Amino acid sequence: MTIKQQFSIDFNYDIFFSRDAFDPQNPILVNVLTENGAREGKAIVIIDGGLLSSMPLLRVKIEQYFSAHSSLRLLAPVTVVIGGEDVKNDSKELFKILELINTAQVDRHAYVIGIGGGAVLDMVGFASAIGHRGIRHVRFPSTVLSQNDSGVGVKNGVNAFNKKNFIGSFYPPFAVINDFSLLQTLHDRDWRAGTSEALKVALIMDLEFFEWLEKYATQIRDRDLGKMEYLITRCAQLHAQHIVGNNDPFETGSSRPLDFGHWAAHKLEQLSDFSIKHGEAVAIGISLDIAYANRAGFITDDILERILHTIENLGLDTFHDLFFNESGIEFNPDLMVGLEEFREHLGGELTITMIERIGTKFDVHEMNPKWLQDAALKLKNKYQVHAS
Ligand SMILES: NC(=O)c1ccc[n+]([C@@H]2O[C@H](COP(=O)([O-])OP(=O)(O)OC[C@H]3O[C@@H](n4cnc5c(N)ncnc54)[C@H](O)[C@@H]3O)[C@@H](O)[C@H]2O)c1
Ligand SMILES: [Zn+2]
Repeated sequence: MTIKQQFSIDFNYDIFFSRDAFDPQNPILVNVLTENGAREGKAIVIIDGGLLSSMPLLRVKIEQYFSAHSSLRLLAPVTVVIGGEDVKNDSKELFKILELINTAQVDRHAYVIGIGGGAVLDMVGFASAIGHRGIRHVRFPSTVLSQNDSGVGVKNGVNAFNKKNFIGSFYPPFAVINDFSLLQTLHDRDWRAGTSEALKVALIMDLEFFEWLEKYATQIRDRDLGKMEYLITRCAQLHAQHIVGNNDPFETGSSRPLDFGHWAAHKLEQLSDFSIKHGEAVAIGISLDIAYANRAGFITDDILERILHTIENLGLDTFHDLFFNESGIEFNPDLMVGLEEFREHLGGELTITMIERIGTKFDVHEMNPKWLQDAALKLKNKYQVHAS
């Protein structure tokens, strides 16, 4: 006998864009935490240590926000975790949050609020997903990359066995609140790094957005907050649209278009011991894939030049020495392994996203090693000409 089971669950969450979200006059958070008609919105708050050291008054502001609203209750003092990739590499941080969920009696009607960069949100999101088999999770992304990309999606995770995001889950947040005022203290590298994800979605989905990026790249790089707010809003919108519109939010297929440029990026991050940041690696990975697309005859020289120029104007690199082994000529076999790891992460057939025009993507199922080497050499030569 066979009993067939089938059900579907509707997920929905709002992504808010605001400034000064912890000003007691700002209603977004209190509305989110009480939207289910609950008499009291109970929550714990976990904050990125790097963010807090740049913005030391934030902790007090959060506590004041909770005291200013009688319908809200903090179940524990604001808790600080390490900022950056270390928080995903050190399982003690994950267990610290699980322990807090236990001791503060955070139940499935309460909320775990994470405030920080993509790394902290990935770890806190994962703790929320597994504590009591899933507690409502509200994200406050505090970097460009997390506001326009990682924080608005449905994935979380931590690193294990020397592999990024090896342990994690698909667990949609309860809400995302993008507070632009958090971005002011970002270091220049983090400010610039996140812009590569906007370039990525523009290249695969939206010519007009690419043209906007091309036009304003240097202003964005030089910290024009107004331009950055538009970049984040449009990029988050395209990401969100893709997650829903592609009908595969939990990535059961083999295609990962939002990971354009990422097969090399993930490996470069790892090979450099994470000294290359994710967003920086994405810019380099996109450069390699578009140089490959040009070598394979998918895009013209003119398009290649336009995109590389925009990446440079955004203040990001288009080349890295790790493209080659010690000879400086042969494509790095360690980087090549990234292709297989990329396939393995999803299973199924190798599927790499390519572009044929700006805004139009398609999939390829193999990468020619010789063309990859040619692409890397072309980028190296350009880079050397610029450097001299
Ligand atoms: N879940 C997903 O779908 C997804 C997608 C893309 C990337 N990611 C992950 O996101 C992570 C990268 O995120 P990121 O680029 O935000 O970097 P990050 O989280 O490493 O943060 C960068 C640094 O900035 C600090 N910081 C954070 N906010 C700050 C602020 N406002 N002012 C000053 N300092 C601040 C942090 O402490 C950290 O040192 C990677 O682990 C990557 O794998 C996840
Ligand atoms: Zn990315």
